[in-house]
Amino acid sequence: MKRYLILSMMILGCLNGYSQKFEGLALTPPMGWNSWNTFATNIDEDLIKGIADAMVETGLRDAGYVYLVLDDGWMAMQRDKDGKLYGDPKKFPRGMEALGEYIHSKGLKFGIYNCAGSKTCGGYPGSRGHEFVDAQTYADWGVDFLKYDWCNTENLNAKGAYQTMRDALYAAGRPIVFSICEWGDNKPWEWGKKMGHLWRVTGDIVNCWDCELGHGTWSSWGVWKIINMRKDIRKYAGPGHWNDLDMMEVGNEFSDAENRSHFAMWSILASPLIMGNDIRSMSEETRMTLTNKEVIAVNQDSLGIQGFRYLNEHNIETWIKPLSNGDWAISFVNMNQEPFNLNFDWLKHELGDDLSQKFANLKNDLYKIRDLFNHKDLGDTSMPLKATIGVRDVLMLRLVRQ
Ligand code: GLA
Repeated sequence: MKRYLILSMMILGCLNGYSQKFEGLALTPPMGWNSWNTFATNIDEDLIKGIADAMVETGLRDAGYVYLVLDDGWMAMQRDKDGKLYGDPKKFPRGMEALGEYIHSKGLKFGIYNCAGSKTCGGYPGSRGHEFVDAQTYADWGVDFLKYDWCNTENLNAKGAYQTMRDALYAAGRPIVFSICEWGDNKPWEWGKKMGHLWRVTGDIVNCWDCELGHGTWSSWGVWKIINMRKDIRKYAGPGHWNDLDMMEVGNEFSDAENRSHFAMWSILASPLIMGNDIRSMSEETRMTLTNKEVIAVNQDSLGIQGFRYLNEHNIETWIKPLSNGDWAISFVNMNQEPFNLNFDWLKHELGDDLSQKFANLKNDLYKIRDLFNHKDLGDTSMPLKATIGVRDVLMLRLVRQ
């Protein structure tokens, strides 16, 4: 019996040429921290260990942020004599494997970065032509997450390049979340589900509310630019494969209100929640936003349905997301320059999502209302909801089906 099992596994393996990703690794959007937004290539062992410690001490790990991802700048400028990558010995004197052990000893997972091109965006050795060696190296180091970028990829076919790395990871045998960072140029939502677990949908984020910051041939985008840039791709997201709105800028020079709105939007859009701030020195207000379990539960809902804009009246961006057990999340973000007095009559609304075929008939069905940032019950949907929303702040609710 066992012989037949092994034989059929081998035949299956040959038939598909090990052409697959590791399934079941990101059934809800991945959560973690990434070094790029705050530190760019200025990363080293002390910093990363300090971040690992802070993830535990601040409660972030226990709130679900488990991936600690080193972005660009961790490598030596060239490969070793066997063609393998290694950590910059000045920045990481004990090597990457030891760093991975430290990260794992804290109950966290180890994430790393490279690029499909000949060089990374920062000019370090890329994986082009070295995919299988690099995947094996990461597996040997105990890596759990790979962010794979798209600089210096002249003439490369995007789908093919990501497929090669996916196959290399699979052949190396260690389950590794594969994060496609291709900026949306080649519509990764159309093919990414088979290649990886998340894919960036735009160019880089920058810590402004709604700006475009030009860099000559490319731009970085503020929070609301990213939200508005891809209107029709929510159908591509779901358990195991997510539209990635980029590392968050929560805690990076935003007001507390803006931080809450940014976090609420990433949550309602089922984006991966990858922090990009210096969590060793964040304010208590930022910590409370990032560890808000009721908001995180919206992001991590097991149905994995990406939310969408329901209304934009009086400059109040109103977004909704169907949740399991017939619940709904709804966020009202005040885009005005002054506080807004909301008076929302539930009986005049029907929340519906043709894509997931979820509908809330508020005339017939009663929902209890939970305020997710103030952690308060606000009655039920039989009465209009009155609330004041501050400038660029959010009122985020969970409607709980009775
Ligand atoms: C690209 C990516 C960023 C970051 C940098 C590193 O711009 O989109 O997220 O990884 O490269 O150089």
